Amino acid sequence: MDLSAFPYLQGNYAPVDEERDLDDTELKVEGKIPENLVGAYMRDGANVAYQPNHYVYPLDGDGMVHSVYFDNGKVQYKNRWVQTSHLMTERKFGHTIYGSVGKLLEVPQDVIDAGGEPNPIRNTANTNVLYHGEKLLAMWEGGFPHLLNNDLSTVGLYDYDGALQPGDALTAHPKICPVSGDLISCTQRWDSPNYWLQVFDRNGKHKQTIPVEFERKGIIHDLQITDNFVVIFYAPAFHSLEKAMKGEDPFLWEEELGTKIIVIPRDGSGDNKIFETESFFSWHYCNGFEKGGKIIIDYIWINSIPFTQAQGTGVEKQPRRMYRMTLDPKTMQVTNEQFSDVFCEFSRVDERRMGKEYRYGFAASSNRSWGDAHGYNCTGRYDFETGETKLWEFGEEANAGEPAFVPNPDSEREEDGWVMNFVFNPGEGAFLSILSAGNIDDGPVAKVHIPGRVPNGFHGNWCQDLTL
Ligand SMILES: [Fe+2]
Repeated sequence: MDLSAFPYLQGNYAPVDEERDLDDTELKVEGKIPENLVGAYMRDGANVAYQPNHYVYPLDGDGMVHSVYFDNGKVQYKNRWVQTSHLMTERKFGHTIYGSVGKLLEVPQDVIDAGGEPNPIRNTANTNVLYHGEKLLAMWEGGFPHLLNNDLSTVGLYDYDGALQPGDALTAHPKICPVSGDLISCTQRWDSPNYWLQVFDRNGKHKQTIPVEFERKGIIHDLQITDNFVVIFYAPAFHSLEKAMKGEDPFLWEEELGTKIIVIPRDGSGDNKIFETESFFSWHYCNGFEKGGKIIIDYIWINSIPFTQAQGTGVEKQPRRMYRMTLDPKTMQVTNEQFSDVFCEFSRVDERRMGKEYRYGFAASSNRSWGDAHGYNCTGRYDFETGETKLWEFGEEANAGEPAFVPNPDSEREEDGWVMNFVFNPGEGAFLSILSAGNIDDGPVAKVHIPGRVPNGFHGNWCQDLTL
C-alpha cells in the first residue's frame, strides 16, 4: 500500500497487516498486574485492509479490535479485523471497492451481480467495542453493531432480536446506567433527520424508544446520561450524502446557527428542554450529573468540526480542551467554562459514577505543541474536586490512547481503580499501560509489552469476567 498521501495513516496511525495470538510467553510484563483482574481490555480502531482512495480521520478505516485478556495474573493478546460485509466483499475481489464517508463511490455492477455488499456506505465497525448483556459488540454510528465472540471472531450484524429496523444506525457511544444496568443508546437514520433514544435492559433486551424530532439531521456522536435526563449537543455540523456522492466536500459547519443542547427526560415524557449557546463542537463527554436543580456536563470542547480533512489529506489542528457546562433549567442559562488548558480528547470516567457526581475524569492528553497529525503522549487526570490536572507522560514522541477506567472489583473508591490504554513509544515499542487511578505520578503499575505495533485507535472498554 502507498499511504504517503494520508497523514492519519503515518507513524503509529499506520495499519498492521496481521492478526495475531500472543500468550504470556510472548508478552513481557513489566511491573505487577493486579491479581484480582479477570476480564479483558478491548479497543476498537481503524485499520485499512486495502489501499484507500480517500481517508477521512476519524471516520474511515476497517474496524480492528485489539484485546488483552487477564486471568489469574496471566495475559493473552489477540487482534482481529471485524469481518464486515464490506471487508468480505473487498477480500473476495482483492482490492478496495468502497469509497470514504467523505467521498462515496458507486458500487460497480459486477460486484453487486457477484453478491457483494451493495451499500456504498461502509459499515466500518471501527469505533467502539463494548460488552453488555453478555454480548460483545463492535460499534459504528452509521449502522448496526457487529456481534463478536470472546475470541474476537465475528458472528455478524446484530439487530437486538429485531429491535433495530433496516436503516437504523446505532450510536457507538451508549452509556450504561450504573443503577439499573440499562444501556442508554440511540439510533439515527441516513434517511431521516430524527433521533430516537433506545433503552436496552441489563440483559440487552429492548425496553423503550423515546423519539426526538429534528428538522435537519445533525452529526451527533455521543450522549450523556444523568439520573433523570439524556443530554445531547446539536452543533451546526451536518453531512451531505448528496455532496459525498458527487465527490464534493460533504461536511458543513453553519456557525451562525449556534449549538443547541437538548435535555431529554429519561422517563419518556417528551418534555424536552432546548438550551441555546454559541457554536462549538464536541466528540466526547466525560460525565454529567444533576446538582441543586442544575445539570453539569463535563466534555471535550472543540471550536468547530474539523474541515481540513474533508478531502482526506488534511490534518486537524484545532485544540480541544476539557470544559464544564452548567445548565439551569429554571432560567435556561448556559454557563460554559474551560476546566483546563491541556489539549485532550477521549475523556473517560469510573463508570460506576456514570451520570453521578464524581471526582476524576481521565483523557488522552498532550504536553506538546499541537503538530501535524497530532498524537496524545500523556494520560491526563482531571480532578473536579480540586481543579487540578495531572499528566503522566509516556515519552515525548509517544502516542497514548483513550484511558478506559477499570474498577477494582474489591473497592468502591475511584482512587482504587486503574486506567488502561495502549501506548506506542518509539524506542520502547507497544504496550498496554495500567496506571493506578489514585496515583498516576508514579507511572504505570504494569506494562504489558506487545511485540510489533498496536496502531492508534478509538474507543475501548474493560469487559469484566470476559475470558477465553
Ligand atoms: Fe467517539
